[in-house]
Amino acid sequence: MIRIGFYGTASDIAVWEASLANRLPDFEIVELLSEAGGDSDVALVWAPPRDAFSHCTKLRGIIMQGQGVDHMMRDETVPRAVPLVRLVDPDMASALSHWAILNALDFWRDGAVYRDQQNRGVWQHVPQRPATGAKVGVLGIGAIGTVIARRFAALGFETRGYARTMKQIDGVEVFAGADQLADFASGLDIVVSVLPLTPDTTAIMNAGFFAQLAEGAFVINGGRGPQVHDEDLLAALQSGQIGGAALDVFAVEPLPQDHPYWTHPKVRVWPHVAAQTNATSAADQVAAAILAMINGQEPANRVDWSRGY
Ligand code: GLV
Repeated sequence: MIRIGFYGTASDIAVWEASLANRLPDFEIVELLSEAGGDSDVALVWAPPRDAFSHCTKLRGIIMQGQGVDHMMRDETVPRAVPLVRLVDPDMASALSHWAILNALDFWRDGAVYRDQQNRGVWQHVPQRPATGAKVGVLGIGAIGTVIARRFAALGFETRGYARTMKQIDGVEVFAGADQLADFASGLDIVVSVLPLTPDTTAIMNAGFFAQLAEGAFVINGGRGPQVHDEDLLAALQSGQIGGAALDVFAVEPLPQDHPYWTHPKVRVWPHVAAQTNATSAADQVAAAILAMINGQEPANRVDWSRGY
């Protein structure tokens, strides 16, 4: 019997039991933090509290219910000796691409302007931006960012990607490493971040970065909140250098009630929902990771602690 210790915030045990039912031999899912959780063979978690694994005596590995592992990196009580696996789910990548495209096109086609006009009963044209030629840059072109960049390219937009190391993506101009960040950013109309949070990506979108973008550019953050320097973004919105922002992630979540983003006319606040975990589409890969760990094999999508994701 495989015992899976569970800790989640948005999903529940019954959903995972159903999705894993035909994919694993005999198994049971228990609350990770309960006494029974101490006998877990593997853990399936999202945002566990500190010391969540300290009572586990036979843990063979930890599987995340999402892709970001920054909170695990910050918690030195998470065991480093067993594999940590993140989800790389095509369905979540697709969902995140839809969210990014939705916000990019809403900006490019002046959705906010026309919604405001409708509210006031105003029938008035604003000049349409060209259907092709928007310069879009995707910060982070791993499993998710590559899908997003390809889809922006397919819309006819001039698309760039930025990564730690060089990659090839058809139809996308790729920039690699901190030395090429300014060239990546230069003149972009829309920037989308789906980067993992690491020391290198913290505050990567700051005043200097915003200054490189086209005047009135739009910022979309689906990575992690601390990648945006909030004061710099608010100042750039004020000056007009940045024309608007759609943010799904924040330095503090839930976003504190008194945060200026809530009421800023040019900021759209999303409550970290751009790509919610889908227990059905992720089930194959969670089951494969569990079986690999139980059998002492190397699981796919293992997190590299030194790299930070
Ligand atoms: C969500 O933000 C995730 O990292 O999966």
